[in-house]
Amino acid sequence: MANSPSGDSVTDRIVRILDTFTTERTVQSATDIGRRAGLPSATAHRQVEALVEAGLLERDEDRRVRLGMRLWELALRGSHALRLRQAAMPYMERVQATVREHTQLAVLEQNEALFLERLSSPDSGANITRVAGRLPLHASSSGLVLLAFGSTELQERVLTAPLARISPETITDAATLRRTLAHIRRVGYVVAPGSIESVSTGVAVPVRDGSGAVVAALSVVLPRTAPTEGAIAALSDAAAGIRSTLTADRR
Ligand code: PHB
Repeated sequence: MANSPSGDSVTDRIVRILDTFTTERTVQSATDIGRRAGLPSATAHRQVEALVEAGLLERDEDRRVRLGMRLWELALRGSHALRLRQAAMPYMERVQATVREHTQLAVLEQNEALFLERLSSPDSGANITRVAGRLPLHASSSGLVLLAFGSTELQERVLTAPLARISPETITDAATLRRTLAHIRRVGYVVAPGSIESVSTGVAVPVRDGSGAVVAALSVVLPRTAPTEGAIAALSDAAAGIRSTLTADRR
């Protein structure tokens, strides 16, 4: 791949440009993209134009730039995430109909919980989760489940790094987190009150595929004082249903 005088490859530059888009910052000028990506202005404008021509970025009528539909199309094509989401959707709808609160599906992605889907009704309570958004592993119910069933290497990496306090009740002590993860593996679910915002309780269970490997976490976000037993039962039934769909898919 051709390198620039600063030594970064075209691929590096494209990744840096795409990485300037976040769930909160979805539209930007080419100048702002260049500044955020650390690229010279002329390079940024040229590269953005090439990406627009390829359909990976799109311009609006003010010439501002957003991620293109073609990127979405390519990313979903044959993706494991889409297959998982499709297997999960009927069961997520059932959970949502029973519990009547936010229901969401997350996978492990680069040390964080990445949310593939979220179902909510208009009267559901607070929830900071966004589809295609991420939450920290130690500070969300889904993240705790993914961490509990993740590799030892992942657990040690998280346990030995500083644990950011997102809310007053986030687990920030490594020994407490280690005990919590062992408890989750023993009981097969987590109830995490106030771990990311004080007004809510996250409840999550692992989702296994046909081989028994944990491939996702299924969770609900309840108002802080709501009972959790019904949610645990609904989530566990749903996880079993998703597993049977994923098992049938493998045949
Ligand atoms: C959680 O999974 O623990 C969670 C997620 C989003 C919220 C609250 C709790 O807004």
